[in-house]
Amino acid sequence: MLDILETVFKNMTSSKLDRIITFSLAMLTLIVFTGASVRLTQSGLGCEDWPGCSEESIIPEWELHGWTEFGNRILSALVGVAALWAAYACKLRQPFDQRIVRLAWWIVAGVAFQAILGAVTVFTELHPITVSAHFLISMVLITACVYLKELNKPSNNQDNIGKDPTVLAGLLGLGMIFGTLVTGTGPNSGDARSDRLDFDIESIARVHSLSNWLFVAFLAVLLYRHSCNKPVRQQLVALGTLSIAQGAIGYLQYELGVPPGIVLLHVIGATLLWLGVSFFHARNAQIWQSYMSRD
Ligand code: HEM
Repeated sequence: MLDILETVFKNMTSSKLDRIITFSLAMLTLIVFTGASVRLTQSGLGCEDWPGCSEESIIPEWELHGWTEFGNRILSALVGVAALWAAYACKLRQPFDQRIVRLAWWIVAGVAFQAILGAVTVFTELHPITVSAHFLISMVLITACVYLKELNKPSNNQDNIGKDPTVLAGLLGLGMIFGTLVTGTGPNSGDARSDRLDFDIESIARVHSLSNWLFVAFLAVLLYRHSCNKPVRQQLVALGTLSIAQGAIGYLQYELGVPPGIVLLHVIGATLLWLGVSFFHARNAQIWQSYMSRD
């Protein structure tokens, strides 16, 4: 069996591996969107058991909520297969790099952990803290996969602009954490039976939007500070544009009473922004650059 796999995977050049890692990254991103769709269609407890849908049957009955939730479980299995495929391909990369293999297996472990957390989410009837952790760990996995892509590049001729990208990612991370607390307090729980957090919705939404404006303000500072560096400037302009659009969607959904369609757009925007900041960090942060240049 291993021989067959090695034949399929032979001549694992860095560009061939890049395509496999990109596929895994696309799957890790897609599952966030479908996971949010499960919540926003109130299908979070469409299956009340795990790994089977109910105590009586592995698969759901012909009913929309059940299949929406179960479909997401099937997709999560594919996310696992994609991560395993990438890890095995990393092992065969020529030239071999232990750091790449190690990171790829950490991603596999993270996906396995998410499967367990998915079960805990079902058994706690979508407790907002487990839902929030599920989302935030997905963000960590996306970042890890971006790093994997960058580590796999044959040459590293990126910029090192010091600690700024790390501070930027930290600020966005904080805004995202507050975002999940707004979600945990608001009405889009995924099922009417779920607990809600005890925050005042107006206050927590205000803290969330303020922390994101702090991120946008720091982005503007970086744009000024690195205006002479064309590639860095271009990346910052793209991130700034996405952030403004994301902020506008945020206000719109708040004013309209968080309608599911716009909330889904907000989740997609947040995930893409995080993906962008992860690339920005992997390409420009001092901490990551010094790790990459280590043998
Ligand atoms: C850079 C800007 C922003 C980012 C990256 C961001 C990110 C997020 C994230 C990650 C969530 C949680 C999604 C989830 O748990 O599924 C969220 C929820 C939310 N955000 Fe933002 N946000 C931004 C700006 C804003 C602004 C300006 C507002 C205006 C008040 C806002 C209002 C909300 C609301 C109301 C929710 C809860 C939606 C729900 O019911 O699920 N956001 N945001």
